[in-house]
Amino acid sequence: MVKLRTVYRCTDCGAATPKWAGRCGSCGSWNSLVEDVEGDDEIISIATGMALVPAGIPKPIDSLDVTISEPQTTGVEELDRVLGGGLVPGSVTLLGGEPGIGKSTLLLQLLAAWSGRTLYVTAEESAQQVHMRAERLNAIKPDLWLVAEMSLNNIIKSIDQVEPQLVIIDSIQAIADPLLNSAPGSVSQVRGCAHRLVQEAKARDLPIILVGHVTKDGGLAGPRVLEHVVDTVLSFEGERHHALRLLRAVKHRFGSTNELGLFEMTEMGLRSVPDASKLFLADRRAGVPGSIVVPTLEGHRPLLVEVQALTNLSPSHVSPRRSAQGVDSGRLAMLLAVLERRANVNLSQHEVFASVVGGVKLGEPGADLGLCLALVSASTDRPLAENLVACGEVGLAGELRQASNTARRLGEAARLGFTRAIIPASSAVDINISGIKLQPAHTVAEALALAGLSIN
Ligand code: TYD
Ligand code: MG
Repeated sequence: MVKLRTVYRCTDCGAATPKWAGRCGSCGSWNSLVEDVEGDDEIISIATGMALVPAGIPKPIDSLDVTISEPQTTGVEELDRVLGGGLVPGSVTLLGGEPGIGKSTLLLQLLAAWSGRTLYVTAEESAQQVHMRAERLNAIKPDLWLVAEMSLNNIIKSIDQVEPQLVIIDSIQAIADPLLNSAPGSVSQVRGCAHRLVQEAKARDLPIILVGHVTKDGGLAGPRVLEHVVDTVLSFEGERHHALRLLRAVKHRFGSTNELGLFEMTEMGLRSVPDASKLFLADRRAGVPGSIVVPTLEGHRPLLVEVQALTNLSPSHVSPRRSAQGVDSGRLAMLLAVLERRANVNLSQHEVFASVVGGVKLGEPGADLGLCLALVSASTDRPLAENLVACGEVGLAGELRQASNTARRLGEAARLGFTRAIIPASSAVDINISGIKLQPAHTVAEALALAGLSIN
């Protein structure tokens, strides 16, 4: 008889300790230990199905057949873009996102677009509910099989029966392996079920997509180990009140994690957004102080976004409010300091609000210069020219530094009708974009002068 023992496992790093503590001894996170069971390796094998996998046979690397791992197109253009072509047979993908963001919708649309037989395992909603949604999304087709099931063994039986070429499990937190004796969603269940499904995927060369919920602070609920078990982790993001949804690869064993997929949530489900810049700029009001368009780069994809700033004399004068939406607040603080020390723009008595329109988050320094111009435009109440874009990183000395791939960014700006660009002098050397007049600057102060915002 095999013995199981109780341990406490960290939901962040997966480390186990025999005693409960308020803080994980391994990674230091607070309140992350939960009860779990552990046994000899043998038991874990039974529980996770590890024993089913045949022993690996070493082979010379050049003798391996790699044709099988060619990605197969999903039929959803933006999803293919993020996955680098499509789903690889035998791969397991985790799709994470907040409740209500549109994970089930995206996957139903994927099933409708997929050529071949598919199986949708719904563990949260009833088959009727999924059917109703599929009707709305025009996803009813004979190749799409549906089962409402929470037990892992029955799910695997269904896979045996249907022999699908793609399986969706919605969600990994709602299914359970009866052998593991703990509630669905617990660490041991999530980990055990994911392990078992990974083995099924590999053994059958079957792509499987798992839906995973994320917690309030944005992490995937369940142990971090889940992220290590799967091949690809996709994150589906967006602001609830905006229609825009962003799909990113957080981890991808078969390609780059740089690409961004864009969707718009409509009455008829999600629609791919091939021309995002146009969408972002649709509501722009030109001629308002504090607004500028910044060409950014998400992966290889150039995007034009509007950056806005507002400054207001603070009523209290003691640590006035700073608010940053879509821009890192540390970066905003640094740029305010650079403006004060290197360009004579003093906003220390002002409340400062900075935001990126459309729910986009700027994670790269190429937007620094645009943000500085927006801040000064707002504080001086002088609007920037309507046809102007700016990109470049700002250093602590007030110097401008090249942003990666400036030509591609400016190409996108030209496409949307912008005709002037303020850029770091170093990047102006070998760039020539038809339709755009380049205005090179060495420092923020020079850039402010070029934009018509000189302070002195
Ligand atoms: P859903 O896919 O259920 O989200 P998740 O699986 O991530 O929890 O999407 C839920 C939201 O999407 C819901 O609030 C309604 C909205 N929605 C639309 O706006 N249009 C549609 O066609 C569909 C199916 C959903
Ligand atoms: Mg759902």
